[in-house]
Amino acid sequence: MSLFLSPDHVLQGGYFHATLRKLQERNTTIEPHNIMYPVFLLENDDAVQPVASMPNVHRYGTNQLIIALRELVANGLKSILIFGIVENLEKNAIGSSADVSENPVIRALPRLKQAFPELLLACDVCLCPYTSHGHCGVLTPSGAIDHAASTKRIAEVALAYAKAGADVIAPSDMMDNRIKAIKDALVAHKLQNQVSVLSYSCKFASSMYGPFRDTMKSSPMEGDRKCYQLPPGSAGLAARAAARDVAEGADFLMVKPGLPYLDIVRQTKDMFPHHPLFIYQVSGEYAMIARNGDSEEVKTILMETLTCMRRAGADCIITYFAPLILNIIANKE
Ligand code: PBG
Ligand code: ZN
Repeated sequence: MSLFLSPDHVLQGGYFHATLRKLQERNTTIEPHNIMYPVFLLENDDAVQPVASMPNVHRYGTNQLIIALRELVANGLKSILIFGIVENLEKNAIGSSADVSENPVIRALPRLKQAFPELLLACDVCLCPYTSHGHCGVLTPSGAIDHAASTKRIAEVALAYAKAGADVIAPSDMMDNRIKAIKDALVAHKLQNQVSVLSYSCKFASSMYGPFRDTMKSSPMEGDRKCYQLPPGSAGLAARAAARDVAEGADFLMVKPGLPYLDIVRQTKDMFPHHPLFIYQVSGEYAMIARNGDSEEVKTILMETLTCMRRAGADCIITYFAPLILNIIANKE
């Protein structure tokens, strides 16, 4: 007798079958357009270097990157996020090498566009890979952020990448008001309808960027980034930063890192349901999953993680796992 069992309280009848389980999910499918692949670009066109702290991740010169992308694009890859690395070009106080004509990103963009006309090319814009002090903006003599000089430089670099063929400009520097500065520069050069701006709007001062900073050689020489990246405990600043960037014209928003910040993903999606939302599964998150167990286990942990990111409200996931995910989607692994 089930006298005390109200039918309303019996849930398992709704998900005993795999097809029914699918119907219980909303916006959690993972298709190729939901994935963006970050790539590290070297100055030497023929170089390939493994990244010690990130299994299966490499840094490529343009020739090698094109070879690597060929297979991925054939497998469905829709978008990449490019990070330039300099070893020979000089690093100075204002990050001059970020937008010189010899910069690896500026040289690679036309070649990538030609090789992969359909591939969406996003460029990370920041000064830290190019500054002698390793900070993401320009500093005053006392070491504080020089706000006006920083936004001016960031907009200059963004414009240079836009002119070289970037489809998406993604400023990761976290300087106040950079979105407006970039949008103004695009409008002034009549590029505003050919280039979009993906703001790293809710980027936190996380300890999970370690493997990335090793890879990019972009750690600050002195101090940390807590005066411009957001405090990990502050949902309020994340809300204000997203609102500010929307007001300044950001096309897309981002939460970074990913997994520990899913409440911020949901908050941002609820605040701005009409702005596609990106989430960055950062290098430290990648390393945590990639070193875990055998490959079957990695795959199930990975796909569960992506499902939860989508459930929280992310439309696109920036992840170093993109090659593996494409294979999983295509049933090749
Ligand atoms: C630099 C930048 C960082 C990341 C993307 N752009 C590091 C940082 O801000 O310290 C992190 C990416 C990752 O960890 O995968 N502005
Ligand atoms: Zn930076």
